[in-house]
Order: sequence, then C-alpha cells, then structure tokens
Amino acid sequence: MLTFKLLMTYIYTTNVYRTNLSFQAYYMTKATTEKNPPHSLHKLNSTTTLQREQPGRSLEPNTTVKHQINHSLQDAHILNSHNRLIAEEITRELKTKVMGNNVIILERTTSTMDTAKKLAHTCFKNGTVIFAEEQTKGRGRSDHSWSCPKYKGLLFTLLLKHNIQPDHLCLLTGTMAVSITETIRETLQLPAEIKWPNDILIGGKKVGGVLVEFEKGLKKQPIFLIGIGINVNLTEEDFPGQTRLPATSLAIENKEPINRILLARALLQDIDKWYSILKNDHYRYITDRWREYCVTIGEKLTLTDCGKEYTGKVIDISNNGGLMMKLENGEIKIFRGEHATIKY
Ligand code: BTN
Repeated sequence: MLTFKLLMTYIYTTNVYRTNLSFQAYYMTKATTEKNPPHSLHKLNSTTTLQREQPGRSLEPNTTVKHQINHSLQDAHILNSHNRLIAEEITRELKTKVMGNNVIILERTTSTMDTAKKLAHTCFKNGTVIFAEEQTKGRGRSDHSWSCPKYKGLLFTLLLKHNIQPDHLCLLTGTMAVSITETIRETLQLPAEIKWPNDILIGGKKVGGVLVEFEKGLKKQPIFLIGIGINVNLTEEDFPGQTRLPATSLAIENKEPINRILLARALLQDIDKWYSILKNDHYRYITDRWREYCVTIGEKLTLTDCGKEYTGKVIDISNNGGLMMKLENGEIKIFRGEHATIKY
C-alpha cells in the first residue's frame, strides 16, 4: 500500500519541460489484441497504439490535432514531462471488463458530458471514457458549474449501455461515489467520505463529485453518461472564490502531488468492480458500503424535493439508494437522489 502511495506521488524536480509538446485531442482503444478487436470508429493499426482523431469524426470541430508520443515511457511509473494524461498509459495493464474499453483524451472541451452526448449517438464501445484536460463549461448537479484548472484534475465521462430500472438510477450514483471513495482511501489512505448522494469529501471539504445523465442512443438504446470530477493537483491558490461547499484537493490533503495517470487507472478498476456488483443485482453490498462512507446519516438537514422543502433527521440510505429521513412531523420519507437537493 505504501509502495502504491509512493508511486502515486511524483517529483516535479525530475520533469523536463518540453515547450512544443502540444496535445489537442487523441484517443485510442484499450488494446489491439484479438480479444479486444479495434472498434470500427476508432480503428488502430497493429503497429501504433495511438491514433489521431479522424477528420470528419472530430468530437471537437475546428481544433487542430497534434500529438506526440513519449516513446521513452517504458514504465507506467515514469511520468511524462507535463504530467499529462496519456491514454496508452492509463490503459496499460488496466484490469477491467468494461470501463476504459476505449479511452479518449481531449485537450479541451466544453464539458465531457457534451462530448459524451454526441458520442452516444454513434456505435461507440461500451465503457468508453472521455477525459478532458480542460473544460470551458463543466457542470455539476442542480445546475451548478464545475471548474478546475487545466492538467490539475481528473475530469471524465463514462458511457455505459445499461438497462437499469429507473428506480435504481440513484444506485448508479452511489456505485460511483463508493468507487471513488474507496479508491481514494485505498490508494492514498485519505479519509474520503460521501455526502449523499454524490459529493466526495475529505474533512468536510469537497474533493470530487458525480453527475449521472441519461441519453437515448442508436435504436433508443438507454445510455448512461457518468461524469466524474476530482480535484487532484490543485493548490490552495486554485480555490479563490467561495464555493457551495468548502473545497480541497487530493494533493493538498496528501501534502504531495499525485500521479493522475495511476489514479485514473485505479479509479477505472474500482468503478469496474463495483459496477459489476451493481449489474449482478447485489445492491446490498453497494448500499452497505455507501452507509459506511456516508457522512449524511445522523445529520439534521433541510432538502428540497420537487420545489418543496423538508426538514428532518437522516436515518438511513434505503436499499435503492434513497435518503431516508424522519421529518419534523414524525413521518418517515425516502428521497430520491435525482430530485432531491440538500440545502446548505
Ligand atoms: C457535482 O459535484 O455536482 C458533480 C460534478 C461533476 C463534474 C464532472 S467533471 C467531468 C464531467 N463533465 C462535466 O461537465 N461534469 C462532470
């Protein structure tokens, strides 16, 4: 564990800054083996594992595609000079069934949710993940914005073809929140917790969040777009304004910068594990872990649900991920994460 923590932490001093290294947008598929045949839209040839975005298939119109592969990267622990996300590095030794079957990295986009929405209407590979180094219109739940300085966060959207029952939608948010929390706890030994339904906190400060959106894809196939934002290498100066919740980053809490590539890989693996638990209908494992990490249970709070305010004490998380509250009038009510917002 300690070794992993050391690997996650990198040393700026060894960095050699190459000024001309400019990535606009590139993507790759997980592997070019027969087991993982190249996807028709993102075909790779057998000699290169990194591919330029196809003209006419561009997810980011009007951007010039430039890329450079750091061929000296023989080992996942060696960092590229700008600590940029590199698809090839994230997918190297990635042990997942679904998550990261195709990894797309964008230098800049409005929001990875927008990009994912467009991709949802093509024959994309299930488990495709779109990372962005910068978002110009990042968004969170309840119409909040999400901003993060370039190269300092992990900002991504996962595309999942999933026939989830509508009343289990909140469980999907919980599954993601549990995965992120577990990854932070296990890889960095930081005491991450969940503020129901989707906020990831450390010491009461927000470090990450989950946003789940739904889209009908080709042939009306249900597609879930799972947006995840994590403050990774932000410093105190990167949090100038007043935010809804006090905010922090993993690097601030860890007291050292974090290797985002290794963190991204660990996250995808943990999400894959918990998602397969969800797919196999073992909801109980998810809600049990969610309860264990949830700081909201036992709190007295006010939330809004469909325009109405409710005040009471949180007593539990229900089996399908709702927030169970004992209201001031003694009534017990369960609130669903898609509609309810906790007031601050
Ligand atoms: C929240 O805390 O309300 C959810 C925040 C989710 C932010 C991520 S960043 C990647 C993806 N793209 C977005 O525009 N939002 C999500």
